[in-house]
Amino acid sequence: MKPPYLDPNQPVNRRVEDLLSRMTIEEKIGQMCQYSGVTSKIEQMIREGKVGALLNVYGAAEVNRVQRIAVEESRLGIPLLFGLDVLHGYKTIFPIPLGLASTWDPEVVKRAASISAAEASSDGIKWTFAPMVDIARDPRWGRIAEGAGEDPYLGSVMARALVEGFQGPDLSNLSSLLACPKHYVAYGGAEGGRDYNTVDISERTLREIYLPPFKAAVKAGAGTIMSAFNDLNGIPASANPYTLKIILREEWGFKGFVVSDWNAIGELINHGIAGDIYEAAEKALKAGVDMDMQGDVYQRALLHLVKEGRVSEDLIDESVRRILEIKFKLGLFERPYADPERASQVIKREEHIRAALEVARKSIVLLKNEGNLLPLSKDLKTVAVVGPLSDDKEAPLGPWSCLGNPNDVVTVLEGVKRKISDKTRVLYAEGCDVVGGSREDFEEAVRLAEESDVAIVVVGESREMSGEAASRAYLDLPGLQEDLLKAVHATGTPIVMVLMNGRPLSISWAAEHIPSIIEAWFPGIQAGNAIADVIFGDYNPGGKIPVTFPRTVGQVPIYYNHKSTGRPPSPENKWTSKYIDVSYTPLFPFGHGLSYTRFEYSGLYISPQEVVKDQDIRITFRLKNVGDREGDEVAQLYVRDVVASVTRPVKELKGFRRVTLKPGEEKSVEFKLTLEDISFLNHELKRIVEPGEFKIMIGSSSEDIRLTGSFMVREYVEFPWK
Ligand code: GLC
Repeated sequence: MKPPYLDPNQPVNRRVEDLLSRMTIEEKIGQMCQYSGVTSKIEQMIREGKVGALLNVYGAAEVNRVQRIAVEESRLGIPLLFGLDVLHGYKTIFPIPLGLASTWDPEVVKRAASISAAEASSDGIKWTFAPMVDIARDPRWGRIAEGAGEDPYLGSVMARALVEGFQGPDLSNLSSLLACPKHYVAYGGAEGGRDYNTVDISERTLREIYLPPFKAAVKAGAGTIMSAFNDLNGIPASANPYTLKIILREEWGFKGFVVSDWNAIGELINHGIAGDIYEAAEKALKAGVDMDMQGDVYQRALLHLVKEGRVSEDLIDESVRRILEIKFKLGLFERPYADPERASQVIKREEHIRAALEVARKSIVLLKNEGNLLPLSKDLKTVAVVGPLSDDKEAPLGPWSCLGNPNDVVTVLEGVKRKISDKTRVLYAEGCDVVGGSREDFEEAVRLAEESDVAIVVVGESREMSGEAASRAYLDLPGLQEDLLKAVHATGTPIVMVLMNGRPLSISWAAEHIPSIIEAWFPGIQAGNAIADVIFGDYNPGGKIPVTFPRTVGQVPIYYNHKSTGRPPSPENKWTSKYIDVSYTPLFPFGHGLSYTRFEYSGLYISPQEVVKDQDIRITFRLKNVGDREGDEVAQLYVRDVVASVTRPVKELKGFRRVTLKPGEEKSVEFKLTLEDISFLNHELKRIVEPGEFKIMIGSSSEDIRLTGSFMVREYVEFPWK
């Protein structure tokens, strides 16, 4: 007779309680410990029931080998949970998350996550440390590459799409991948944009900027959350009961488990809030961290704390219940092993590669296209492709490229060669390195440009220059790349500049002198095909930047949803908030992105004009393609609370829609707002809406506003939550 915990017909809570009742305290603590990689020591610990999860162990055969130790050689046979950083692809690599956000198309992003989940889960991985949902307003911070940019609304939409894409409708599905929104919370607010640095922000900023994407992820059903490294207002995020218990569990009702970031529990000693591993373990556990990633702190400290009476076994049981519940829901007890045959059929299948191309195309942003230089003709006589990233197979994978293989990458040079007609000569020169190097190869690049009708110059960052532990104090093109650009520009040959980068760059000179600029971010394995499709017009770009591009790093932090101040910047008035040596405006504003066609906005209609409690606000307008080619437009809805009891941003994104229109086609677009959508936290941090005027701005970017209107709220409304 099977014990209840091994009986799939028993309800999950019954299986959890039955298993918990059979576990020793050592086995319970074991479930709370995750290790990276596997050694003979770890294998022995698995046999002794001292390991609950692993990371960075992958491949069906290896996962099965290690899982067999847990299931067949340990006393209770509790399966391990295998985790990996599957952020934007497993082996089929999609654009980095900043590129995914640039699509402004949650369905496409959800599909990318779903494909990533199918591939990873087929290979034995059932847990991803994603989505990264940290809001980032500081491009010096390299991890801006891993998220959805600066805006809490867009960030929330993307968080939900990714969680739903990774996990699917049911965690027990074969293709489901347990999500782990990270890094909870406000990690992106690091002072100076310096990774792992202190975060000290107001409760209002915490709640209105950094928490919303996590709340969206939790409401989307994320099964785990990762606690962050950073100090948050004096209490490190991995020992912060206010965020981990009061907000996450009491306010949001999160039922999953919290895993620390890599040794973030042990680092409480560096933070100076724990004198030793025992104090660190006690603080983290009591704050609400259920699993210790790679720190080995819970392993070494918890049994001692229980014996000393500093931590109760009941508290241990709470964490173990959450972990076991997830394992049962994932179906790990019934299906602990991966099927190598299925993995080989699923991974990098043709439809996945096609999806990677579609997503990469949609992620590309046309920043500038003076004189409509783009799209290029495929019959040009000669095209030069120059720059250190022109034929680079590594960069397009971006940071956190999981098991992406550079050999699978289509470079820009390869994409261009495939795209042009056989009448066209393609010339190639690297020109310089991404960083450092010398000018000696400029000559070759310049010579080729002189011989060509157009020069495609591919510049940016290496993939190591963004992601974790990759903060930059400057935001310029690294190395000699701008000099290379200037040298090619001096030939007079028209330039199409392609940027591959993990953060906004202060490309002020290029923005002034280069006629066409494409922001491709790190577009994944189909990079070259997607970029060539855009350059030669087989795809009309429709992406929008989800982050503000500064003119110079000196403007940082610079973001669109800023406050007015008492002296809003005015070029005519010295005594207003601006700089004396650079414009206060961004180089490219949040939401910016051009098209090869043009769109006209008309017929804004807002109803009702007078809004009372429980009424929704309906906003409609017409969008028309007045150009000669099909294209996508991301129409954006911004709202401003004109007068309120606390200062409010000059505008806030509250809706968007990516609309495809054929030449001459016109569509009606509708947004619906609830009063909660336009609510805010008053000085007592109560969520309210106050009577008064609300401005509506419909735009093609946060600056390119096409339609304006307003409505009045007639009564005060308070919501029972923050
Ligand atoms: C890293 C990162 C985190 C990642 C984890 C496991 O330090 O901060 O984002 O998921 O370790 O690789």
